[in-house]
Amino acid sequence: MIQIWFVLSLGISWVHGGVNKSCECGIAGINRRIVGGTTVLPHAYPWLVSLMLGPKLHCGGAIITDLHILSAGHCITFGVHFRELTVYVGMHDRLDTSYTTHRVVNGVKHPHFTSNAVRDINDIAILTLDKKLQFTENIQPICLPDPTMDFRHLPLTVAGWGKTRQGALTSSRYLLETKVQIVDGEKCKKSNIYKENLVSESMMCAYSLGKDACQGDSGGPLFSTHKRTENKKWYQVGIVSWGIDCAMPDYPGVYTIVAKYIPWIKKQTEKGMYCV
Ligand SMILES: *[C@@H]1O[C@H](CO)[C@@H](O)[C@H](O)[C@H]1NC(C)=O
Repeated sequence: MIQIWFVLSLGISWVHGGVNKSCECGIAGINRRIVGGTTVLPHAYPWLVSLMLGPKLHCGGAIITDLHILSAGHCITFGVHFRELTVYVGMHDRLDTSYTTHRVVNGVKHPHFTSNAVRDINDIAILTLDKKLQFTENIQPICLPDPTMDFRHLPLTVAGWGKTRQGALTSSRYLLETKVQIVDGEKCKKSNIYKENLVSESMMCAYSLGKDACQGDSGGPLFSTHKRTENKKWYQVGIVSWGIDCAMPDYPGVYTIVAKYIPWIKKQTEKGMYCV
């Protein structure tokens, strides 16, 4: 009888927020190589997705389970309903149609998401896909960070097809990446625009390290490896939230800190399967 209950409770924990011990998160594509500020080699970052509004690139996002995309709250606000979005996964070249597309059946933004003309607070959202992703070399989840991991002083990667919140006229055909570094919260708050708007507990600023200061698609991930896993796995450190646009490299971009929202993310993704 004890054994039967043991088996039953294992079964229940599998259904609720399952972790699949036979797959790994945060494994970059075999083509990966550091190419600061330029085109990423195809499928180097297999968790990157684009959220399309018809033919237009609307936002970026990242695969975190076989059913869920982590993105920004503002991507499903301001007149855009999650049902209007199509998620392109496994994409590199926007003109090569070998990517797969998914519809979005649910979109939840943080209950305390707020926005004004300058900034968004609690700018985080989870989208649920219409069907489970089949993980392949080109489609992989990124790891969620442990809140005790320190990502200061590390070069962080932000990638996207180049459309910014401010609305570039054209976006890139190929996935682009930029390296950035976290700016001390106090230093970032000294900037005139940011001082009234920065909630340093849940947002962080990061400066571009390259000449190419464009910060990828809003809603997209800011990610890095960590020495705790011997720099072999990539973790999502932030979500591209807001900032002054690409033309003004002196202003750092502002990112939602993913580690501050882990319990909320886990609650929204109970039906998905995580890799370890
Ligand atoms: C767990 O991951 C492995 C390797 O990716 C996969 O073959 C298997 O189908 C997954 N299990 C479930 C229940 O999704």
